[in-house]
Amino acid sequence: MNQQHLWHGNLQHHGLEHRPPLEIVAAEGCCVQARDGRRYLDAMAGLFCVNVGYGRREIVDAVAAQMARLPYYPLTQSHPPGIALAARLAGLLPQGLDKVFFCNSGSEAVETALKMARQYGRQKHPGENRYKIIARHRGYHGFTMGALSATGQSPRRTAFEPLVPGFLHVPPPDPYRCGFCAGQAGCTLDCAAEIERLIRMEGPATVAAVIAEPVIGGGGIFPAPEGYLERLREICDRYGALLILDEVITGFGRTGKLFAFEHAGVRPDILTVAKGLTSAYLPLGAAVATAEVFEAFLSAGAPETKFTQLSTFGGHPASCAAAMANLDILLRERLWENAARVGGYLLERLRALSSPVIGEVRGRGLLLGIELVADRQTRAPLAEGRVVAAQSALREAGVLVGRNSDTVPGYGNVLELSPPLILTEAQAGTIVQALESVLAGMG
Ligand SMILES: Cc1ncc(COP(=O)(O)O)c(C=O)c1O
Repeated sequence: MNQQHLWHGNLQHHGLEHRPPLEIVAAEGCCVQARDGRRYLDAMAGLFCVNVGYGRREIVDAVAAQMARLPYYPLTQSHPPGIALAARLAGLLPQGLDKVFFCNSGSEAVETALKMARQYGRQKHPGENRYKIIARHRGYHGFTMGALSATGQSPRRTAFEPLVPGFLHVPPPDPYRCGFCAGQAGCTLDCAAEIERLIRMEGPATVAAVIAEPVIGGGGIFPAPEGYLERLREICDRYGALLILDEVITGFGRTGKLFAFEHAGVRPDILTVAKGLTSAYLPLGAAVATAEVFEAFLSAGAPETKFTQLSTFGGHPASCAAAMANLDILLRERLWENAARVGGYLLERLRALSSPVIGEVRGRGLLLGIELVADRQTRAPLAEGRVVAAQSALREAGVLVGRNSDTVPGYGNVLELSPPLILTEAQAGTIVQALESVLAGMG
């Protein structure tokens, strides 16, 4: 029935009648309920996004009130929820990172940031040709053509190539498998140095920006090692490239700070956010730029220096109202602190598991990855079919976890956890127990 007309993303429809997707009909807190009445602990918060948890009546009420007052007006002009939310975001971000451009999703936020960077490059450095964007393998930045071009996961890109010209990729920080430093005492930051080498080889005057997730999310959970983001900041400053930090997953508390760049004390030139901005109660994204970037778009005598982008739904008043109510909850309950505390507890419990298929457990706050291997010595990845089987068994046990599907050929071997930030220690214990019993049978 479901499959007759609904075309799902990232799902092979052939044979779907034998393995139908979960049809979720209701949700509360950290749990979702399927049509057949079964309840699951949603250890993925939907798609890394329902940060404040399900069933928050005050968000629903705020949206309803806004819809009754003003259901729509475009931000080519203005409206109160847009003004209020932009000011609120500016107040939460470091000094000077305060020019907020609204859109509808994470992909659009990244698309917006990339376009800002290219137009900025041309207007700030008129004699140069700054259009190249440096990104990392395994990074994910979205499904639109620009954001996909920045994405470093070939299985997601190949069917749509050729993509946008001018995107270059370097190795991500992955100490477990790093070509530079695996087996050494710690990360040598050679992967960051690679970015500098690439900029010099390409010619700094051709590079508009470096884009990075502070913790690579969908690509397998790779937190930036200590010193990494600081090095990116230094390199960008040295060569006049903008630093775009993509906090579509990590923003709004997930890693134990309100924003993940706070762990490194690094301020990006452009920040992209979405998911946790409304906890996905309604679609909304934003690219937030520094005043310095914004100023390159100001000119008394040349109106074409304005940012050349238009969006019908971007910054929809109802979405802005949802975001305001969501931020009220996030700030009142200080949910990033719970993410740090319960995330730390969960990481510790997971690292204590002794299954022979667990190669590495890593992550930050409530964004964790469990890399499964066939052999702990050689670190050979567990075959994808067996990882899928583990994910299905966890679902049978009542816990929904993610997996880095279709990111790197042969390396779809990371189970991912990104639960609502209200997760309790008892619920973390439920996740650990389910993993323990499922992985015990896989040695
Ligand atoms: C880091 C990052 N950027 C961008 C996106 C794209 O966001 P959306 O799916 O809302 O378009 C995602 C989605 O998961 C993401 O993880």
